[in-house]
Amino acid sequence: MEEKIAEFSNKKRSGFTSKLGFVLAAAGSAVGLGNMWRFPYLAAQYGGGIFVFTYVLLALFFGLILLMLEIAIGRNTGKSVIGAFTKLNSKFKWFGYFCLIVPTIIVPYYCVIGGWVVKYLFSFIGGAEGLVGATDATVTGTFFTNFISSPWQPLVFFLIFAFITIGIVAFGVQKGIERMSKILMPALAVIAVVLMIYVMCQPGAMEGVGYFFVPDFTKLSFKTVLGALGQLFYSLSIGMCIMITYGSYMKKDVNITTSSIQIASFDSLFAIISGLIIIPAVFAFSANPADVMTNNGPSLMFIQLTNVFNSIPLGRVVGIVFFVLVLFAAITSSVSLVESIVAVLCENGKMKRITACITVFSIILVLGSLSSLGFGPLSGLAISGKSILDIFDYLANNILMPIVAIITCLIAGWFIDTNIIKKEICFEKKKWFEKYFTIVVKYVAPICILAILITGLFVKI
Ligand code: TRP
Repeated sequence: MEEKIAEFSNKKRSGFTSKLGFVLAAAGSAVGLGNMWRFPYLAAQYGGGIFVFTYVLLALFFGLILLMLEIAIGRNTGKSVIGAFTKLNSKFKWFGYFCLIVPTIIVPYYCVIGGWVVKYLFSFIGGAEGLVGATDATVTGTFFTNFISSPWQPLVFFLIFAFITIGIVAFGVQKGIERMSKILMPALAVIAVVLMIYVMCQPGAMEGVGYFFVPDFTKLSFKTVLGALGQLFYSLSIGMCIMITYGSYMKKDVNITTSSIQIASFDSLFAIISGLIIIPAVFAFSANPADVMTNNGPSLMFIQLTNVFNSIPLGRVVGIVFFVLVLFAAITSSVSLVESIVAVLCENGKMKRITACITVFSIILVLGSLSSLGFGPLSGLAISGKSILDIFDYLANNILMPIVAIITCLIAGWFIDTNIIKKEICFEKKKWFEKYFTIVVKYVAPICILAILITGLFVKI
């Protein structure tokens, strides 16, 4: 028995065995619905090029630094979020708990969108009427609307996705999933690139590429900047301190800077590729692109991908394969989100694993049901045109994640010995980068993120 326990605890902190192992695991959690589903529709809504431009700038200035910071805190303390902050400065234990609110809000609606993916997968397999083979882009739009406004369908598919996620966490089979993701994630990347090239060759698509890349500065507003910032946090999985846990498993000889650059580049590339499938598709397949861009929101990926698959020979098969891979990317992300909450409940709340899973599942059930029915029976609960799902999404990404990021920077910059973090990152000869890192963490990031947050929330320009 004792041997077993020893073996288990060894395993627990045995860490990622190779350098590539760490990058792949972190990228596996980073690449998910945020890249495929969220980035393209936000880019469409917030004015295309200007959103992408802001996103890339923010990723270079803040995204990378915050990712490095979270990983360094994790590796230095060797603990996940609550333990990490307690170890750094016991005054900040509360902050560990505060961070947990973010994944708790995100997971339920993540499962709802995951459910939409399951629905589309099943519909492609079954050759659903009004979806597979439809030649008119408005027909595929109607299929989606009928689905999400149904009083029970979104709920059923949400439950399927939620069950899969909780099942994997409860039975502790994440390792198997991680192994599979090493094959399936590259497959997703390959098929996405092929689709991107195909869509870009369609008549009219180039206008979409222009919309996606050429910034129109008249469309720049604080709302756009806040939107891009929220998306950056969401997509890179930062601003909720989960990357601290990943860092705690990282071997000491792995270079934090290089790995972070790799993760951030991989993640952004994925987002840009999905944007280059979905936005040019709007221009190639719909009669009124401007209308589709502004009015579709969360449905954009589903409707536009269907239009793409319906236009290619053997499109149904391609559709099935693609949705399987997207589903996989979504599951790896949702599993690591749930795992991060369950781990804290077990370690700090002293709960049994199964009790923790049931607790998280209950939260998912309540909040996720609200989100999933928010486009149909509960549409009356919308606030100023925002559905329940949109409200949770906005609250987590545009309000809470920036707050978590600001506090993380303040703690690391002012309330602990910053040298600990700097040593952990090991800047070696790159003194200029070390200076830059310190200035961003201490001053630039907290001030700028706070300014973006306040103006984005309250100023109407
Ligand atoms: N980045 C993930 C995506 O793009 C979502 C996500 C946010 C996430 N924070 C996370 C996943 C933490 C795992 C862990 O879909």
